[in-house]
Amino acid sequence: MSPSFPQTPARHGVAVPRRWRREVERILITDAQIARRIRTLARAIARDFAGRELVVVSLLNGTVMFLADLIRNLSLPLRLDFIGVSSYGAGTESGELVFTKELRLSVRGRDVLLVDDILDTGKTLSRVRARLRALRPRRIRICVLLNKAARRVEPVAADYVGFEIPDEFVVGYGLDFAERYRNLPFVGVLYPHVYQQGCRRARPARPRAARARRRA
Ligand code: IMP
Ligand code: MG
Repeated sequence: MSPSFPQTPARHGVAVPRRWRREVERILITDAQIARRIRTLARAIARDFAGRELVVVSLLNGTVMFLADLIRNLSLPLRLDFIGVSSYGAGTESGELVFTKELRLSVRGRDVLLVDDILDTGKTLSRVRARLRALRPRRIRICVLLNKAARRVEPVAADYVGFEIPDEFVVGYGLDFAERYRNLPFVGVLYPHVYQQGCRRARPARPRAARARRRA
């Protein structure tokens, strides 16, 4: 088993690409750091599950890049399935959790690797893990790219962690803010004005009648 040296990324001052400079304040983890770390994680997972056939259960949508890079580095027989979860909260706070896609593969008696992008409060993974446990797998191990330990509310620990990060809202490499920024190849921190704009947009529009009254 790991825990295989989760790292706090060093401050390294790699410039944000021009395209994203207005929105992204700084790069927290570069694509090269991510690639290197994933190879180490994959080696640890392959060692721990040697001789077993793994069922990789990945949470949609934030794991899209991490999962693709992780499994292409995993030299184990495995089957892949997804669980869809969405938390309908505004802005950067997670709200109520809704399951948008259920598991299709049977995990009964199987070794399960549950993959998520980030372990934050732990509410998501504790609920998903409880759901999986009810399906009677042999064991469940949790693998996350990022861990924000300072934010934990539920008692969930990941067995494989890519990077320990501070309590900052991050985007990129699959992680979003209001469904944007998933396509950035690095993990970065947004400028506060991006959130403030997002919150304004998320506020319900004033009713037509009230607007008309104001204009009158
Ligand atoms: P938790 O339920 O609070 O642990 O949150 C887990 C989910 O919230 C993750 O799967 C992400 O989708 C989202 N999340 C938490 N922190 C961040 C962040 O810093 N950036 C983007 N998404 C986040
Ligand atoms: Mg998400």
